[in-house]
Amino acid sequence: MPQNASRAAGRHFLQIPGPTPVPDRVLRAMDTPLIDHRGPEFAKLAKRCLDGIKTIFKTTNPVIIYTATGTGAWEAALVNTLSPGDRVLMVETGQFANLWKTMAEKLGLKPEFIKGDWRTGADPAAIEEHLRKDKTHEIKAVCVLHNETATGCLSPIDPIRKAINAAGHPSLLMVDTISSLASTDYRHDEWGVDVTVGGAQKGLMMPPGMSFNAVSEKALRASKTAKLPRSFFQWDDMLNMYKQGFFPYTPATQMLYGLDTAIEMLHEEGLDNVFARHDRLAEATRRAVRAWGLEILCRDPQYYSPTVTAVLLPDGHDADRFRGIALNTFNIAYGASFGPYAKKYFRIGHLGDINDATLIGALGATEMALKLAGVPHNKGGVQVAMDYIVSAQSGATRAAAE
Ligand SMILES: Cc1ncc(COP(=O)(O)O)c(C=O)c1O
Repeated sequence: MPQNASRAAGRHFLQIPGPTPVPDRVLRAMDTPLIDHRGPEFAKLAKRCLDGIKTIFKTTNPVIIYTATGTGAWEAALVNTLSPGDRVLMVETGQFANLWKTMAEKLGLKPEFIKGDWRTGADPAAIEEHLRKDKTHEIKAVCVLHNETATGCLSPIDPIRKAINAAGHPSLLMVDTISSLASTDYRHDEWGVDVTVGGAQKGLMMPPGMSFNAVSEKALRASKTAKLPRSFFQWDDMLNMYKQGFFPYTPATQMLYGLDTAIEMLHEEGLDNVFARHDRLAEATRRAVRAWGLEILCRDPQYYSPTVTAVLLPDGHDADRFRGIALNTFNIAYGASFGPYAKKYFRIGHLGDINDATLIGALGATEMALKLAGVPHNKGGVQVAMDYIVSAQSGATRAAAE
């Protein structure tokens, strides 16, 4: 933006890995007069949302909807199922895994952390090995992030459940899908997850402030004997009121209008198409990064994230300075870096309501910003991304014509 201007022209490129741009249709759906949250119209809206959200988590069990950010749903998962002093197994995938672990400690749980270097996802074999040593089954829950937003690494949830079963361990499995839900394949029931934590502001294309717990029968049973104190987050209260189409407290009515529309839009596109789009955009981004000669933080392709790519800058180049230059010049925002890699990388979010053209615009701004910031790189990353998208789309176009 020119120094003498107080406004940047055009759309802001919000390429952080959430919150993501909210589609106009969702915004319009929220822009509606308030209704009585104990009235018949609300009951219909609540039913649509409570039924609809199950299709996103792929569950037939209830999904609890909280007026809270994802952090609230993390807390809800723990306090509804566990008791003070319970041991829980967590995996150090990055900043958000650290934060969930710190929360568990604050709540009086005893987390055991499988160490990680922030460059891969959770390894099912390491989880199995750890659980096999717990002969008396003192570990009550395994808590993992499906997608570690801080590093761009995706963990394999189905194999993790199989690893828990292979160890013959009765532990609950809790999964954070805050930056993967509605962007990549996820199957709460089929994969045997007990509590899935979700958030509104990423793949669901909503503003922040709403989050979810999808539960299993086993988790509901655990909640009957769990002793951690809870009130606002208590599942029972919520589930009882849902039967009548209401919430125990004043619900975020406008957010529910948004959610209703966002779910409708995801199904209009088709969930499998949504996932394929995210895979294509992620692969195009990684190809651009490699063509620039830069390194992807996630060092093992089997863990590549479909929603966010963290890009390491060469030694001596400050990623925060790069982000500042890109924002000021091209009105594009990237995700920041954390922990041992603070200031060493920036993150390109490619999730939510984003298409091929948006991504190419974002990658174009990135290539220009690398040049302006004096970061050594090869030209042509955007061309490589375009070539990949063209080949992927021509395959799709051919298939449609056949
Ligand atoms: C994977 C993951 N878990 C948890 C959180 C915390 O969610 P919130 O900031 O909505 O409280 C985030 C936020 O980005 C996240 O990416």
